[in-house]
Amino acid sequence: MAVSSNFFQNPGAVPPGPYDVSLDTVFNREGARQAQAVIGDWQGYQPTPLRSLDRLAAQLQIAGVLYKDEAGRFGLGSFKALGGAYAVYRLLADRVCDQLGQVVPFQDLLTDQYQAISRRFTVASATAGNHGRAVAWGAQMLGCRCMIYVHAGVSAARAAAIAQYGATIVRVKGNYDDSVERAAADARANGWTVVSDTSYPGYTDIPKYVMQGYTVMVEEIVSALANKPRPTHMFLQGGVGGMAAAVCAYLWDSWGRHKPRCVIVEPEHAACLLHSARRGRLSAVRALDTVMSGLACGVPSLLAWQILAPGAEFYMSIPDRPALDAVAALARGDYGAGCVVAGESATAGLAGLIAAAGGSEIRNQLGLNADSRVLLIGTEGDTGSERHRQLAADEKKALGSAS
Ligand SMILES: Cc1ncc(COP(=O)(O)O)c(C=O)c1O
Repeated sequence: MAVSSNFFQNPGAVPPGPYDVSLDTVFNREGARQAQAVIGDWQGYQPTPLRSLDRLAAQLQIAGVLYKDEAGRFGLGSFKALGGAYAVYRLLADRVCDQLGQVVPFQDLLTDQYQAISRRFTVASATAGNHGRAVAWGAQMLGCRCMIYVHAGVSAARAAAIAQYGATIVRVKGNYDDSVERAAADARANGWTVVSDTSYPGYTDIPKYVMQGYTVMVEEIVSALANKPRPTHMFLQGGVGGMAAAVCAYLWDSWGRHKPRCVIVEPEHAACLLHSARRGRLSAVRALDTVMSGLACGVPSLLAWQILAPGAEFYMSIPDRPALDAVAALARGDYGAGCVVAGESATAGLAGLIAAAGGSEIRNQLGLNADSRVLLIGTEGDTGSERHRQLAADEKKALGSAS
């Protein structure tokens, strides 16, 4: 039922209960467990912080706000490090297994013994930034070749941040869709493997690995909250929906009927999940530009949609301004966890929460009240944008005048 044009309660959401086993083919605990075992073994692995935004909770008159801060993930700046790199590992491991008939543990794959196979394996991906960086990093770690396709809108700084992991950058005229097409055509012609974070009929295995990688951050949340009150709600930003679906499925599987109520938040001009929920089936929109560049997607991922259609109770969209305001407020420390550096795509969930908590009708519909505890995923840190340079300069000035 629509309360306002940018908020929708999903009539297809199932009532609280155990994880639906018919979704096991999309997401299951064994796949997640394997990803967690492998990624936990990577050099530099450590859980990211789960910050408490107490001042924001007080402002919104709710019991708590938790912010999983992915800015420091493996030094790559976003949660995406977990997905793309894990997919490269799984593909290489499968290839080695096909050729040698044996399953090789992750650490062994890094040794010279398997380099002859790794060096002949090329992965390709089109990206707006974070996913390509993760794929390039994974390929470098494992000694594979990597081709990354970026469209005209991807800044030179973002392309350089990917190239530093040894990937060959291919600039493509046009938009993101043009870069996807070109990557696919080149991969077909050269026998490379496309590693995408979105899925569609006939292409689901690789994005499934990507989503399994994301569950590492969700398991960290489950562990951190082992003896603490669980969140009652979660506001999750959506691009193609892979991140939100991984969080939703994992917490549903882990906590059953205590899964937090799930609210999907998208940019108003790229709200393909909200549009799909309204129509009751996977549907595309023409995604327009947004400062939330990681969320500028026009077509939901098939796997994500299969989880979110029954698993997400609410969908909403927000304009750019509140997401930018939240970036600035986090950087100033206004929400009570000190200075938190977040990118524009990281704060959509937070901005969605603030908007929802401030509107009495939506607040009631969500059941947000003084007992509510909300989980947010701060999916990225500094994006190297001019805005972040300005925020850092303002922060320095404020510290200078305070001393
Ligand atoms: C920082 C950030 N947050 C959120 C997302 C959304 O993830 P998904 O496309 O899996 O919904 C992305 C996607 O690239 C991202 O880069």
